[in-house]
Amino acid sequence: MTELGPVTWPPAPITTERLVLRESEARDRAAFIELFASPEVRTYLGGPRPRDELERAVPDLPGRRPGLFVVELDGVMIGMTTLDRRDAERPGHVLPDAGEAELGYMFLPEAWGCGYAAEACAAALGWFADALPGEPVVLCTQTANDRSMRLAAKLGFTEVQRFEEWGVEQWFGVWPLVTPRLSPCWRGAVCQLSWGRSSVTSRRRPAFLSWAGEPKRSSRARTAGGLAAGPGPSPARGGSV
Ligand SMILES: CC(C)(COP(=O)(O)OP(=O)(O)OC[C@H]1O[C@@H](n2cnc3c(N)ncnc32)[C@H](O)[C@@H]1OP(=O)(O)O)[C@@H](O)C(=O)NCCC(=O)NCCS
Repeated sequence: MTELGPVTWPPAPITTERLVLRESEARDRAAFIELFASPEVRTYLGGPRPRDELERAVPDLPGRRPGLFVVELDGVMIGMTTLDRRDAERPGHVLPDAGEAELGYMFLPEAWGCGYAAEACAAALGWFADALPGEPVVLCTQTANDRSMRLAAKLGFTEVQRFEEWGVEQWFGVWPLVTPRLSPCWRGAVCQLSWGRSSVTSRRRPAFLSWAGEPKRSSRARTAGGLAAGPGPSPARGGSV
């Protein structure tokens, strides 16, 4: 997993209408184990991990890394959001150098259906937009994961492409919406891009050009093995503690 980059970490806890987003603490360990052991949570993430294995493997202070926010409701962890760099080897990219920041999320089933994930992810994206202005965020989720698909749309992610990975269809989107302001340009040319409200000058090609005329990365089947493997996210997408 690649470090998120030059961000100040941890930030002060982020308070939303109902939630607090903060760095992980030792008291969150049981909730981390529950997230990774839950068949419901792990349905589209490679399946649950054996609880006894997690009890042995999860560190005393789990989830301590830049970009990982524990989401707390009334003082108790109900889930987590992650912002990690997307593995360059995986399909799905919007920047020519790859390594995009990628949003991930897992919430305990008893916290589903209340809008908490949307509230927390919006706050995490807001933090990221302030920390690394002008950078896009990508998201990859199985198309069969209805709740996650609805959440991605609600957060303002727009589809870039769909592809098959780990034998299932994946939806790959970017946030915020990329709109070209000047005529399209290619590699090496300076482009004026508009990432949502903020405008940046970049030598990177706009996302919508990344797909034109570029050799398509082939989808790969991966072999399960280790704590973070399987037909689900990479360790960089909330797949590891
Ligand atoms: C994906 C996941 C985070 C979505 O959780 P969620 O609770 O459905 O998402 P939201 O926070 O957007 O909540 C939306 C629901 O809350 C409801 N809701 C209730 N009160 C609400 C409120 N005050 N504000 C907003 N929505 C509210 C909405 O109507 C919506 O209900 P619906 O699903 O029946 O349409 C959750 O299912 C999960 O953790 N899944 C397992 C992990 C996973 O698959 N991650 C994907 C990684 S790519």
